[in-house]
Parts: sequence; structure tokens; C-alpha cells
Amino acid sequence: MLRGARCLRGAPSAPSAVLAVALLSSLSRCSLLEPEHPAVSALSPYFGTKTRYEDANPGLRRDPEAPLRDPQLLEETCTPVQLVGLIRHGTRYPTAKQIRKLRQLHGLLEARGPGGDLGAALAAWPLWYADWMDGQLVDKGRQDMRQLALRLASLFPALFSRENYGRLQLITSSKHRCVDSGAAFLQGLWQHFHPGLPPPDVADMECGPPRINDKLMRFFDHCERFLTEVERNDTALYHVEAFKTGPEMQNILKKVAATLQVPVNNLNADLIQVAFFTCSFDLAIKGVKSPWCDVFDTDDAMVLEYLNDLKQYWKRGYGYTINSRSSCILFQDIFQHLDKAVEQKKRSQPISSPVILQFGHAETLLPLLSLMGYFKDKEPLTAYNYKEQMHRKFRSGHIVPYASNLIFVLYHCKNAKTAKEEFRVQLLLNEKVLPLANSQETASLYDDLKNHYKDILQSCHTSEECQLPKVNNTSDEL
Ligand SMILES: *[C@@H]1O[C@H](CO)[C@@H](O)[C@H](O)[C@H]1NC(C)=O
Ligand SMILES: *[C@@H]1O[C@H](CO)[C@@H](O)[C@H](O)[C@H]1NC(C)=O
Ligand SMILES: *[C@@H]1O[C@H](CO)[C@@H](O)[C@H](O)[C@H]1NC(C)=O
Repeated sequence: MLRGARCLRGAPSAPSAVLAVALLSSLSRCSLLEPEHPAVSALSPYFGTKTRYEDANPGLRRDPEAPLRDPQLLEETCTPVQLVGLIRHGTRYPTAKQIRKLRQLHGLLEARGPGGDLGAALAAWPLWYADWMDGQLVDKGRQDMRQLALRLASLFPALFSRENYGRLQLITSSKHRCVDSGAAFLQGLWQHFHPGLPPPDVADMECGPPRINDKLMRFFDHCERFLTEVERNDTALYHVEAFKTGPEMQNILKKVAATLQVPVNNLNADLIQVAFFTCSFDLAIKGVKSPWCDVFDTDDAMVLEYLNDLKQYWKRGYGYTINSRSSCILFQDIFQHLDKAVEQKKRSQPISSPVILQFGHAETLLPLLSLMGYFKDKEPLTAYNYKEQMHRKFRSGHIVPYASNLIFVLYHCKNAKTAKEEFRVQLLLNEKVLPLANSQETASLYDDLKNHYKDILQSCHTSEECQLPKVNNTSDEL
């Protein structure tokens, strides 16, 4: 009865019927990849948001389907009650913009005269990216999601039980790569419950297809203040632009121009960055090490990683307060789910949504982690402190690789001493316990956590945060 009611709520309305058709066609193209020996490059640790999940989490290499059990996960006197997971889409194709730049670079190589082994190898290396690919999820990305599903289902068997299958709640950003990631995750769960049986269409699954909610998963598109002050503001990313023309990047430009034997004036930081990312795309998507990886050494890679991190910092991280404040709506949504589960458990009612999974972007996760106070360096990342920031906390490749995930696990515990019932929370980032920002403990009483974040939970209202400040030209600041 209850199960039916949940599924009814998630049943396709007109827009999601359209979505179901899209899912159907995308799933039929999907094939299980053969396990293969992963190609490696010394540059892999520096790909930032284009990092493969297994490069950020090398424990997966042995068996990507076996659960990664962090020894700090609560056990014994605690049972998991609810899991709320925020998941970045899996490995994707380059965007159309990146593909255009890559073509431009390729054109430069073809136009130059003969000579230079590497330049010739690059000119001959196939350009296999086409415009239609524009940021879509690749097969490897579906595999990322299926494997994550298998690991999480084994790690939390009571939550991902067959009985709970119809109560799964999946929410997604409207972008194809996210919708497809949600579908691939469901396929992975199907595989967990029915090994060897081909999965049905997601639309026919008990819980229905993921529901689109861009207000939650792409809050940055709906926040006027963010759009005006950061996204559409030419000077907001000042440090990114300054670093592009700064000495660290200029050295790389000169070096690459000499290596490829093209005039340095024909190159710029954007083209260099796309060349670097091509090494990452070929590794992540094709599993091959392309000659583009040989253009750079690890010192170059660290500089290019910094360039990527600078952008994330100023656009999604601590650079501007609105970056993180715009994510309050998502933070509050997560706590509403947890609150509800706590209430239901206290009344000995069944938990209506034991598993809630939200599929989004690096741009969804970074602001939320910043809102929560994670990976904050003492000094801001600027165009001028590359050296001082060598050991920074804010390294997007560690935080938000493809398929990265932030998971809130709510536990119901019996206090061993007092025999009292209590609720605890653990956070997992990329399947590793993330110590709480306030206490550095690996678990927190739910009430303590709420208390720590009470400002965000009580006083952060999207409508106010995202409103443009009124211009007051009588103010004495003017
Ligand atoms: C753009 O960003 C700069 C630097 O942060 C800031 O001073 C300026 O007010 C912003 N412009 C708008 C329209 O918000
Ligand atoms: C500032 O005040 C003047 C006079 O009251 C007004 O004409 C102008 O539009 C105001 N400017 C802004 C940006 O609000
Ligand atoms: C504008 O600024 C003045 C001086 O700071 C202040 O007295 C006044 O209340 C402000 N007006 C509005 C509409 O915020």
C-alpha cells in the first residue's frame, strides 16, 4: 500500500514520459564494458574536475564492484535508517566548446611545416570527438554509476533492500549526463538484485525514472545574484584571467610552442588547457594514453591543475559568498529528508524514503561543501600565490572527480551506557568518512550537527540570498 503510494507519486507525468523515452533510447545504446587494464599517466593526479573516480580512489582498482568499507563506519549499536546521497554524473564527453578548441589546436598542428616527432604524432592522432557528444555521459560514465550502485548496495544492505526498491527516490538535474547517470545507477541496483538478468527500462522500474528538479540540482542557474555578480560578470574571475597571462602559464606556452614547433603567438592558455584535458579525456573515455599526455610534465600539470582550481574557487567555492549561499536550498532539502526520517523512526513508523539520491554536477557539490566549511584554505587562491598554495586543501581532483558523491547516513543508535536511543549522522565523501567540520569527529549526534549548521538551516532563504542588493545611492559608502 505504502509502496504503491510512493511509486504513484513518482509516476510519470507528461514531461517525465518524454524523459522516459529519452532514457529508453539511451539505455539501449548502453553495453557493459569489459574490465580492462587502466591506462595510466603521471599527469592523472592533476586533472581536477576531469579526474577519473578510480584515480581519486585507487582502492577501487582491485575490484570496482566490491564495497569500500571505511573502517570508521558506525556499526554494532547503530543501524542505518536513511541515506541521502548527492552524486556527480559519471565520466562524460568534452563539451562542444572544448571540442571546438581542440579542433583549432589540431588545425594549428596540421598547418605547421614538417619536423618534430611529437608535433607529427599529435597531428596524426585521430580527433575522435564530434559536436553531438557535447558533454554527454559516456559508457565509462554508465559503468562508474553501476559500480557505485553495486558498492553502496553491498555497503548498506538494509537500506538498499529489495523491499525498499520501490521507495527509492531519485532526483536529477535536467542535463542528459545526469539523467543518464541516474538511470545507470538504477541498472546497477537491478544487477545487484537480479544478477545476470538484463535490466528493464527505467520507466518500468518500480520506483520509476529519476525526477528532474533543476531548482535543487542546478540552483546556480536560478540564483539571480549569483548570475549577475559572478556568472555574467567579466571581472569576477579576475584571478583566473590574470593567472592565464602570468609567468607560470607563459613558461608553459613557450615550452609547448617549442615542442610542437608552432609560433607562440598562435597559442594561448585556453588552447593549452584543452590540450591538457585531451590527455584526460582520452584516458577517461577511451582508456588510452594519447600523445597529448607527452606534451606536459608533472610541473606543468600542477600549474594547469591550479588554473582549473582557481576557476572552481572563484566560481563555485569560497571566492564569493553567494557561490555557496546559493546552495542553501539543497542543504535544507537534505535536512528536511533527515528530519522526516527521524520523526518517522521516533513514532515507529516505516521510513517513507530510506534512500534518496540526487544527481548533479561538480557545480552542485562544490558550493554545498563550501557552505559546510570543507576544504577551506587560510588564504584565498589568487593569481599570485601559486607557490604558497602548493599544499592547498581546495583541490577539485580530490573533491569532485567524475562520479564523486557526498552521502549523509542517518543512524539510529542505542547509547551503550544510558541505553537511550539517539540519532547519529556520518558523512561520506567519495566513500570515505568525512570528519565533521565542527568537531573533526567521524560521526555526530544529529542534533549537534543541526545545531552547528543552524544559521544555514534557519536564516538562509534562497529568495533573500539570491535577490540582487538594492542600489542605495544615499548610502555614505558612495
Ligand atoms: C563583478 O565582480 C567584481 C569583483 O568581484 C565586483 O566588484 C563587481 O561589483 C561585480 N559586478 C557586478 C555587476 O556585480
Ligand atoms: C540614484 O539616485 C538618483 C537620484 O535620486 C537616481 O536618479 C538614480 O537612478 C539612482 N541610481 C541608481 C543606480 O539607483
Ligand atoms: C540607504 O542608506 C542610508 C544611509 O546609510 C540609510 O539611512 C537608508 O535607510 C538606506 N535606504 C534603504 C532603502 O536601504
